[in-house]
Amino acid sequence: MSLPELSLLGIAITIIYTSQGSYGITEPLQAALGFSLIGFISTNYLIPKLSSSFIKIGLYGKDLSKPNKPVIPESLGSVAATSYLFVMFFFIPFLFIKYLVTNTTGGGNRDDGITQIRDSDLDRFPHDKLAGYLSAILCLESTVLLGIADDLFDIRWRHKFFLPAIAAIPLLIVYYVDFGITHVLIPKFLESWFPQGQTTIELGWLYYIYMSSVAIFCPNSINILAGVNGLEVGQSIIIALLILINDLIFLVSGSFPARESHLFSICLIIPFLGVSLALLKFNWWPSKVFVGDTYCYFAGMVFAIVGILGHFSKTLLLFFIPQIFNFIYSLPQLINSIPCPRHRLPKFNPEDGLMYPSMVDYTQPTTKQLKPWITQTLELLSILKLVKLEKDIKTGRIIKNSNFTLINLILVWFGPLREDKLTLIILGLQFLIGVFAIFIRHTIGPWVFGYDNLWLTNII
Ligand code: UD1
Ligand code: MG
Repeated sequence: MSLPELSLLGIAITIIYTSQGSYGITEPLQAALGFSLIGFISTNYLIPKLSSSFIKIGLYGKDLSKPNKPVIPESLGSVAATSYLFVMFFFIPFLFIKYLVTNTTGGGNRDDGITQIRDSDLDRFPHDKLAGYLSAILCLESTVLLGIADDLFDIRWRHKFFLPAIAAIPLLIVYYVDFGITHVLIPKFLESWFPQGQTTIELGWLYYIYMSSVAIFCPNSINILAGVNGLEVGQSIIIALLILINDLIFLVSGSFPARESHLFSICLIIPFLGVSLALLKFNWWPSKVFVGDTYCYFAGMVFAIVGILGHFSKTLLLFFIPQIFNFIYSLPQLINSIPCPRHRLPKFNPEDGLMYPSMVDYTQPTTKQLKPWITQTLELLSILKLVKLEKDIKTGRIIKNSNFTLINLILVWFGPLREDKLTLIILGLQFLIGVFAIFIRHTIGPWVFGYDNLWLTNII
């Protein structure tokens, strides 16, 4: 390890050590910062050390958007994910130390602990919080396992699509036991449609289906908004920052239970940012490593976990607006109404070094031809500037259309761009939409629903 790395490690250990001073609310946050730094240092140290080993076992990919398509190690996101899991194991005693010292019989202050438990049930060790935390780690381990399997064997979409929902079962059980709320608020302007006094709709088990869908959507949607250097990890960092901003708003001005759930979210997000920033250092244009599907699933699942266990899964979806758009926009290709090539990433032009929209080419004999109603829809989308078409000059027949991804659409709108600029535009867009969503969530949201859990004692 170099001197700067050792100094950073010293700072991280000091931050963690001094976090035990008082038992206030800032204490787990301070420990989270320290562990985040350790996550950053270990990921930053391990990636260059392990890269050649990944290539040796065949985990590499061609950087398709560079001259000569260099081969670089793939799936280094698994190093970030593993660092995160290890850091989160070491974090456990620091998260619960105040209860271990004063509230249990095994924490070194036996008599005091026993008295407090007798005096008040509220002082009991928070098994519910530990269960939530452990279920999160369990869920992430299954997700990382799925990601590594996918990077090794390139599992088919139809086989891997639903697996995140199975990984999320421990979370849903904890949600059921600890929280169990399965109703949604009715917007004020719709209340007249419902019986007098009804302000919520009970969804019952459908709410669990909805949460499973969140667990499926978050990992997969990050994985399909991909293909330019730095985008997978960059978008994950932006989403994590947006979650953090929203959490901090609740921490400063939220009601008690909401503050607790958002504190849980912060404790998971801050170390996530540490490992992700180290990964971004190597994945940013021009990439030295690829993150692999492992990272996309892992990052998406971290967000699903904080959304579900932090009880803000609906707000979370506001931070996924570009991914939701990309998913809906991709649907014609995902369901194969329009041919979907193995790679839909933009096309690199070695002559000017810029990225252009990649196209489906119907002049190739292997490409499935379009049905007439789809051709007409494409014409309409082209008028709306939602797709780029190329036509046969003589017959006017569509011979090419741009692939249906947000990345290609940005190129249709902005014209050809260098790869890093393209990534920056998408990340900027994600951040602006997210900040706007937070603003709407805390201004128009309470006005529409007549309710916000900032400064209030009830929980959603
Ligand atoms: C998803 C997308 C696919 C896109 C791919 C890019 C869907 C349905 N699937 O597939 O269209 O092409 O991600 O990750 O939308 N690569 C680069 N530069 C990068 C990142 C990736 O050239 O910055 C290439 C490399 O060859 C790398 C490969 O993409 O080896 C990784 O693809 P993979 O993550 O396995 O693709 P999918 O997630 O299956
Ligand atoms: Mg991928």
